[in-house]
Amino acid sequence: MNPFRRNKIPLSNSETGALAMKGRKSNFLSIFVAVVFVFLLGMVMYSEDLRSIADFSLSRSKVQEIPEEKSKQATSVQVIAKKGAQGTLTVTVSENFREQESEEIQEAMDVNPVVEKTDMIVLKEKKAGESEEENETEEDVVELPPEECDLFTGEWVFDNVTHPLYKEDKCEFLTAQVTCMKNGRPDSTYQNWRWQPRDCSLPKFKPRLLLEKLRAKRLMFVGDSLNRNQWESMICLVQSVVPAGRKSLIKDGSLSIFRIEDYNATVEFYWAPFLVESNSDDPAMHSILNRIIMPESIKKHGVNWREADYLIFNTYIWWMNNGFMKVLRGSFDEGSSEYDEVPRPIAYERVLRTWSKWVDDNVDPNRTKVFFSTMSPLHIKSEDWGNPDGIKCAKETMPVRNMSRPLNVGTDRRLLGITQNVTQSMKVRVNLLNITTLSEYRKDAHTSVYTIRQGKLLTAEQHSNPATFADCIHWCLPGLPDTWNEFLYTRILSQS
Ligand SMILES: *[C@@H]1O[C@H](CO)[C@@H](O)[C@H](O)[C@H]1NC(C)=O
Ligand SMILES: *[C@@H]1O[C@H](CO)[C@@H](O)[C@H](O)[C@H]1NC(C)=O
Ligand SMILES: *[C@@H]1O[C@H](CO)[C@@H](O)[C@H](O)[C@H]1NC(C)=O
Ligand SMILES: *[C@@H]1O[C@H](CO)[C@@H](O)[C@H](O)[C@H]1NC(C)=O
Ligand SMILES: *[C@@H]1O[C@H](CO)[C@@H](O)[C@H](O)[C@H]1NC(C)=O
Ligand SMILES: *[C@@H]1O[C@H](CO)[C@@H](O)[C@H](O)[C@H]1NC(C)=O
Ligand SMILES: *[C@@H]1O[C@H](CO)[C@@H](O)[C@H](O)[C@H]1NC(C)=O
Repeated sequence: MNPFRRNKIPLSNSETGALAMKGRKSNFLSIFVAVVFVFLLGMVMYSEDLRSIADFSLSRSKVQEIPEEKSKQATSVQVIAKKGAQGTLTVTVSENFREQESEEIQEAMDVNPVVEKTDMIVLKEKKAGESEEENETEEDVVELPPEECDLFTGEWVFDNVTHPLYKEDKCEFLTAQVTCMKNGRPDSTYQNWRWQPRDCSLPKFKPRLLLEKLRAKRLMFVGDSLNRNQWESMICLVQSVVPAGRKSLIKDGSLSIFRIEDYNATVEFYWAPFLVESNSDDPAMHSILNRIIMPESIKKHGVNWREADYLIFNTYIWWMNNGFMKVLRGSFDEGSSEYDEVPRPIAYERVLRTWSKWVDDNVDPNRTKVFFSTMSPLHIKSEDWGNPDGIKCAKETMPVRNMSRPLNVGTDRRLLGITQNVTQSMKVRVNLLNITTLSEYRKDAHTSVYTIRQGKLLTAEQHSNPATFADCIHWCLPGLPDTWNEFLYTRILSQS
């Protein structure tokens, strides 16, 4: 059985459901039987049970995401069963339903952090000296954990003495997407959790130590809006020890560069949500529902990564609106419009193989260290953590405390297996930042309704409708991504 389906991109760039439906017409007959079958099945079993049959349903996070009302309004036929490539029963959803859902995920992502109209913006401070009176006699020495210590197995500890590592209102580089307190979030303890590895401890975060390591070097995050989230965190973690006027943030197309003059160091972010070429590569105008990738094409992006000394990659959230990924036949440059629909894990592996080959061919491991961040989890369905009265992640103010059993919040762990396999097969050593499981416990740490949407703070009306407007994908800062950077900091300091 051929798991791939062939399709044509709608001629216009319009993203209306109608056109998307048209592109799929040919599939309808073939899936009709399956639709009816599953609809009947669904009436009996409902999605909860379907989910347990399908070890992990492909579009689980979407299924979860439908607010009650919406699912009633949606057309009666919503669930389509397919045989997945590995022979597992997988579940995906019909097109009009899919469009709604992907829009939801999309809205959450479609935010420009350094919202500008122009291509290039320089945010340079004018005032010199102030706030940096800090006495430097504090010894810049930390104890590093042994190399073999598993940093990612441990627990969250409430620690309002050492955390947060910086104050929200003391980091002017934070964008409105993540400044939850400023945006009206009433509780603040989400900032006070420290990750405690079971068998060792993370070193105290000392910005100067990291900056010494970064002297005359470029540290670059590459990936989607979650990596951008981590990039913003990293800027705040280091910027406090840099005098005003000696630091700047420049946004230029896909690349955003935070420069620290006195160290000749940069902390950069490169927008490439799929790592490979895609029709979502425009850093500002990427509200693309009809996502199409070129899994074997990475050079266009890669050329921008070659001179970095630290590379931190990720790719996950953009894969999650659909169980199948659209793979272009040909190239965007040639105006190709036909695509295949490939099961998510297969397309993901193709992309990671392309990426790994690029790294092996282009990275000099004597110069550049490579990291890969595993999936940042979503918290869409409050039943997942045993709160039937919750609304997505809204109103969650505490992490999940009971860590005696694994939590299932719908993370597609197949992609983790692929990441592990691919990175292990590489010539260049890749450090996995295994953030997935520990982040799954942090249902309290998302931006929820204390964020922006399409560049604007949520209105009072939107605030009161978290079922529709809560962003349970991204994270407040200070917050969880600071911990991800503590891992990165530990690894960078540990390397000679
Ligand atoms: C730092 O503190 C030490 C002792 O507390 C003091 O002697 C020194 O003058 C201080 N240096 C600065 C730059 O304030
Ligand atoms: C990632 O860390 C979790 C614990 O947080 C552990 O259970 C899992 O095995 C780790 N996975 C990898 C690939 O290291
Ligand atoms: C830290 O938390 C404890 C216990 O909740 C509280 O008593 C204390 O006031 C807090 N300290 C700060 C600085 O917030
Ligand atoms: C500054 O850093 C860049 C690499 O980011 C390096 O190529 C350049 O030589 C450095 N300049 C000085 C003056 O150290
Ligand atoms: C890296 O450095 C080692 C030791 O200096 C050297 O033997 C090796 O050839 C270098 N590798 C590359 C890819 O330059
Ligand atoms: C934690 O979860 C386990 C498994 O569901 C349960 O048996 C245990 O009682 C829970 N512990 C606490 C403290 O709630
Ligand atoms: C990873 O590789 C092992 C050994 O080749 C294989 O058994 C396993 O299925 C692979 N996992 C994934 C997710 O591809």
